[in-house]
Amino acid sequence: MKIAVFAGDGIGPEVTREAVRVLKALGLNDLELVEGDVGGAAWRKHGHPLPPQTLEIARSADAILFGAVGDFECDRLERHLRPEQAILGLRKELGLFANLRPAKLFKGLEDSSALRPEVASAIDLLIVRELNGDVYFGEKGTKVLPDGRRQGWDMMSYAEDEVRRIAHVAFKAAQGRRKLLCSVDKANVLETSQLWRDVVIEVAADYPDVALSHMYVDNAAMQLVRNPGQFDVIVTGNLFGDILSDQASMCVGSIGLLASAALAEGTMGLYEPIHGSAPDIAGQDKANPLACILSAAMLLRHSFGLEAPAARIEAAVAKALADGIRGGDLGGHLGTVAIGEGVLARL
Ligand code: NAD
Ligand code: IPM
Ligand code: MN
Repeated sequence: MKIAVFAGDGIGPEVTREAVRVLKALGLNDLELVEGDVGGAAWRKHGHPLPPQTLEIARSADAILFGAVGDFECDRLERHLRPEQAILGLRKELGLFANLRPAKLFKGLEDSSALRPEVASAIDLLIVRELNGDVYFGEKGTKVLPDGRRQGWDMMSYAEDEVRRIAHVAFKAAQGRRKLLCSVDKANVLETSQLWRDVVIEVAADYPDVALSHMYVDNAAMQLVRNPGQFDVIVTGNLFGDILSDQASMCVGSIGLLASAALAEGTMGLYEPIHGSAPDIAGQDKANPLACILSAAMLLRHSFGLEAPAARIEAAVAKALADGIRGGDLGGHLGTVAIGEGVLARL
């Protein structure tokens, strides 16, 4: 079990440290952890956010545990040198097209949600976000128009095979859950979305046991706070999935709780909290490490088929939260390390 650990910037190293402690505490056989530089930290050391040696480690690993990248001091660099290119590059280079972002309310966090407790307690959903296409990877640029005005553009597109493969992932995920799939798009305005919707409907023929519905993304954002319990699996494109998953995190209490898996065909996967490097709290022992710890659980489940230790981590996190182990993001006072210890003690 070779796991690459890419901690990155800001709170990335703080939260991955706790996740690694949890992984080590499980006493798994053949666990090999290899560290690599990504993001602003890698740019400072090697002049590139995703240096070749890091990509090499990634390719040789069975799975990747990723912290976060992002460093405001790098925001004026040419785009290909910015920290975010590390995660975008890994997703693209390794074909990590399927992003699973589950959101479920933990018992005891009813009052931490930004929603009323009776609304929040019904949340148990999975966002399946396409991760290799959309406006993220289209042609982009800036230019000066003949009349002197500056213009920026980013091309949004999806090819049908890209939609088809993520739709299959989402339908299969729904089959293992409550068998409800909601495809979120903006087909009333965007051609990309109309194709998305047409292809999802075609794929639905293979899954007669799953009830498929469609929703425009603006309505979906509204429904996610009005009645999130209506959702089981949501499948959507790269940009909409990015935004809706941050929103879903506050519905369950904190962005410091949401884990994710970025999967390729096969067993290779990159696992990371959905949050970023949080420069405002970095280096202060304030970050909630639970999203990263839960990402480690997803890693064991999806890349290694280790359901029992994955469930053991999740149960320890649930117990810790139920026992009142909370950081500032959830109205508590505990620091990153203490929260990690709270989980370790309950493993
Ligand atoms: P962010 O997720 O880093 O932070 C948003 C807010 O949530 C901040 O107030 C932060 O303090 C808080 N927060 C985030 N994670 C937390 C945690 N674990 N515990 C407690 N509070 C937490 O988003 P941002 O501020 O928009 O972006 C900061 C940087 O991170 C940017 O450079 C951005 O590009 C990058 N980013 C990277 C990733 C990634 O590596 N996958 C994801 C999102 C953003
Ligand atoms: C995420 C992040 C990334 C994204 C950024 C850092 C490129 O926001 O993982 O959600 O937009 O996908
Ligand atoms: Mn995001």
